[in-house]
Amino acid sequence: MDQNTPAYSRTIMTEIVLPNDANALNNLRGGKILHWMDIASAIAAGKHAKAVVVTVSVDQVSFDNPIKIGDVVTIEAKVTRVFNTSIETYIEVWAENLPSQNRYKCNTAYYTFVALDSNGRPKKAIPITPETAEEKNQFEGALKRREIRLILAGRIQATEAESFKALFNQ
Ligand SMILES: CC(C)(COP(=O)(O)OP(=O)(O)OC[C@H]1O[C@@H](n2cnc3c(N)ncnc32)[C@H](O)[C@@H]1OP(=O)(O)O)[C@@H](O)C(=O)NCCC(=O)NCCS
Repeated sequence: MDQNTPAYSRTIMTEIVLPNDANALNNLRGGKILHWMDIASAIAAGKHAKAVVVTVSVDQVSFDNPIKIGDVVTIEAKVTRVFNTSIETYIEVWAENLPSQNRYKCNTAYYTFVALDSNGRPKKAIPITPETAEEKNQFEGALKRREIRLILAGRIQATEAESFKALFNQ
């Protein structure tokens, strides 16, 4: 089976905020940024998987700064880790006011995808090898994030989660 790196999946998408994308405060609508993050991260997961992917979970979305009409938005997504069939991606969003060159960080999130086979069933994920220190940190943290996600989705019990076993075995 192939082996990929997070860099292989790296996807950068650039948009400009137009009036139609804004809310009543003249800031980018939350739903629009979630949509852009979904597209960028689906491309990253799809590049990694070399297949069509579907979104299975969206979590830890932060909205740290509002984005103004006219500002340029850069959405960067990378695969952090894969499990059996699921593919976790991390997304960072930056905005820039071009005249002032003020660049500010606005959002981060984790989106999880599954690649589907020709029968529409989840496909085994291609392994990934993190290279940089940051990629290794993301890789390490992914098991805990996955287990929290699956507990909250009611797919596993907290007592089954590897990362939390120590808490329950005292
Ligand atoms: C994705 C889908 C095919 C998975 O079907 P399923 O019967 O749940 O399959 P599985 O139980 O094998 O789950 C597949 C993977 O998704 C993960 N998963 C499922 N639900 C999840 C959730 N709520 N949070 C995190 N991961 C989840 C499972 O843990 C599994 O990953 P793993 O193999 O690495 O452990 C099905 O849930 C689906 O079609 N969902 C709708 C997707 C969609 O329409 N997205 C929006 C448009 S792109």
